[in-house]
Amino acid sequence: MIELKSEQERAHMRAAGQVVAEVLQVLKAAVAPGLPTMELDRLADAEIKKRGAQSVFRGYQAYEGQPPYPATVCVSVNEQVVHGIPGSRRLKEGDLVSLDLGARVSGFVGDAALSVFVGSAPDSRAAELLAVTAASLDAGIAAVHIGGHVGDIGAAVQEVVEQAGFSVIRDFVGHGVGRSMHEDPQVPNYGTRGLGPRIRPGMALAIEPMVAEGGYAVRVLPDGWTAVTRDGSRACHFEHTLFVGEQGVEVLTRLSEEPVHEVQ
Ligand code: MF3
Ligand code: CO
Repeated sequence: MIELKSEQERAHMRAAGQVVAEVLQVLKAAVAPGLPTMELDRLADAEIKKRGAQSVFRGYQAYEGQPPYPATVCVSVNEQVVHGIPGSRRLKEGDLVSLDLGARVSGFVGDAALSVFVGSAPDSRAAELLAVTAASLDAGIAAVHIGGHVGDIGAAVQEVVEQAGFSVIRDFVGHGVGRSMHEDPQVPNYGTRGLGPRIRPGMALAIEPMVAEGGYAVRVLPDGWTAVTRDGSRACHFEHTLFVGEQGVEVLTRLSEEPVHEVQ
């Protein structure tokens, strides 16, 4: 069942979205060669607390028997697609790092992700992977229209990705978001225009293209979380939480002063 949000709930979601946006910018600025990824998690915890918000990911279980997620931020490096667990691994120049963060404010969740290189892109294909993934999220957001369908979003994302010769991860999808991080509907990054649930005012959606340089097959490491590409190719991830208002779509996790995704 798709929960439609009131204007008051929208305001709570806006607050949660701004916390996520701000903290992600702090984390992005901290990314540097030699930094152990667990330092990003410490920073995420401190910055979320400072803003009076709560971590959404810590302790989360996607299915019964899965180990609870042990951190506040997901840090996924190179061939890691999503849900990388921060640890003692040190970042190095040229790594492609995806940061995924959720925060709760007044009972409502904001969920967003971005990717960044440590230093500069190691090669032009890597730079293209990041630019195309960011552009596919923009295309997905632009495809959201009242009266349209969720399939319009996936079709728009997929087109951008596949035109560039990259592939869309199938095993993970975007989602409705609200009091829970994962609500109906599922929002795949592939699909067909005109299919899927109808887009209505009051919906809050997390659109999150996960894109691989090679094939889209993934496997999950024995830690129960970290998803990696099966072919070892690099992957990239961007995500925004947005609200479908009567007057238009509001991207809740975008900072007004945030620059357009730049290519390095
Ligand atoms: N943005 C991811 C998602 O929507 C974050 C989940 S990480 C988890 O699935 F640890 F909380 F699962
Ligand atoms: Co999400």
